Amino acid sequence: MQGDGAAIAAADTTFDWVWCADTLHHFDDPVAAVREFLRVLRPGGGLYVKESQVLPALFLPGYPELERQLQRAEVQFHQPEAGPRSFQERRQRTLEAMHAAGLTAVQVRTYLVQRQAPLDAATRAYLQEVVFARNWGPRLRGFLDAEAWAQRTVLCDPASPQALLHRPDYYCIYPFTLFVATRPR
Ligand SMILES: C[S@@+](CC[C@H](N)C(=O)[O-])C[C@H]1O[C@@H](n2cnc3c(N)ncnc32)[C@H](O)[C@@H]1O
Repeated sequence: MQGDGAAIAAADTTFDWVWCADTLHHFDDPVAAVREFLRVLRPGGGLYVKESQVLPALFLPGYPELERQLQRAEVQFHQPEAGPRSFQERRQRTLEAMHAAGLTAVQVRTYLVQRQAPLDAATRAYLQEVVFARNWGPRLRGFLDAEAWAQRTVLCDPASPQALLHRPDYYCIYPFTLFVATRPR
């Protein structure tokens, strides 16, 4: 089944659990979305809302200033969709939205994914293709000054001799947070 999470084509109390991954921050009205998730949950069923990077990740160890500039550029890139509240702000307001939807007992659980060189193929592909080439690729160029873009290319382009992923001392830390609740009986 595929459709709008704010208007789920299912009867009340259909599901044992609802999993919403890195999506609640896209809803214009996250409180209404959480109410919709609760509608289709059976009493006692579990609601799991996952949001990545409620805390910022570390992908460029040793280059905090450049990483901050890239994070700022990402906020600017997403601004047309996010509007006045950035995705980062929306992600951090997940607990607030769940409380506003009537859930009083919500657990916040944050996990860290850590990887270090030598990287396995899947990790290397994710970092190179998703983080560096897509998220921090040409779409951010207009939001960075020339110096930052050049430094990003030296560190993130796999053809660069100084690429971070070639280094034996590379590591990264990626946080994700689960907001867990149970539909009251
Ligand atoms: C960052 S992606 C996360 C995708 C996937 N859940 C994951 O964890 O990799 C955000 C997703 O939210 C979806 N989305 C945005 N608004 C939605 C809505 N109203 N109902 C359902 N999905 C929505 C988008 O289509 C997109 O696939």
